Amino acid sequence: MNTILEVKHLAKNFNEKKIHRDVSFSLKQGETLGLLGNSGTGKSVLLRSIIGLEDIDSGSIIYRNKRIDELSEVELYPIRTKISYSFQSGALFDSMTVYENIAYPLFEHTNLSESEVDQKVDEILSLINMKDAKDLMPSDLSGGMQKRVGLARSMALNPDILLYDEPTAGLDPVNVEMVIEVMKRFKARGFSGIFVTHDIPAARKICDRVLILNEGFIAFEGSISEFENSNDPFVQTFLAGQ
Ligand SMILES: Nc1ncnc2c1ncn2[C@@H]1O[C@H](COP(=O)(O)OP(=O)(O)O)[C@@H](O)[C@H]1O
Ligand SMILES: [Mg+2]
Repeated sequence: MNTILEVKHLAKNFNEKKIHRDVSFSLKQGETLGLLGNSGTGKSVLLRSIIGLEDIDSGSIIYRNKRIDELSEVELYPIRTKISYSFQSGALFDSMTVYENIAYPLFEHTNLSESEVDQKVDEILSLINMKDAKDLMPSDLSGGMQKRVGLARSMALNPDILLYDEPTAGLDPVNVEMVIEVMKRFKARGFSGIFVTHDIPAARKICDRVLILNEGFIAFEGSISEFENSNDPFVQTFLAGQ
């Protein structure tokens, strides 16, 4: 499989606080990589660094053989349509309907006509099983439905890579399943993903490999079965603590 994204020797500090000391990993085309780690280990900062929302102190980030960590805001603009970050909060526009929330990036970044956008939004709504919710406002939706709309909006522009920041956090088991089903459908469409989660059963369902971030380093990297059968005391303690 081709490598689509590579993070090399990344270091990130906030003032004297070291968040990432030396983080290297790669993401292959079509795979979903689980990013695990205790709260505060820098998972969200890592996702934000990938799309240039945080400046890194050293190392490099390479997307399709092109270094993207040194790009200007303007140069990052097209990259952010290809690497899409779905925020931990979901971040829907409260004053827009479900339809308008999903259509927004399409009107903003493409030259599609109104009827083409309609068609595309319909297709996306079927993918998240929410065709009937088209005209509802975010405040009319359950937390799980809001998460699904947020995910739908993040894939509307057909990105290469989806960065999922704890999409199942705070949801009940039924909604967790629905979000995972949406992620599976995205994966089946060929999107690559990085899935930040505390939810090991969810990671098991969708991830090809997992990484554990700890104290600024990648403490473990391997397949889900290597992860679950690992004799590494750190991994065992981590699994026991979940
Ligand atoms: N803008 C910021 N300024 C200073 N410290 C920050 C900032 N953003 C995050 N941090 C700190 O970086 C650490 C990692 O945060 P984060 O990536 O959100 O952790 P998590 O792994 O839980 O997602 C935390 O200690 C957090 O307080
Ligand atoms: Mg976080």
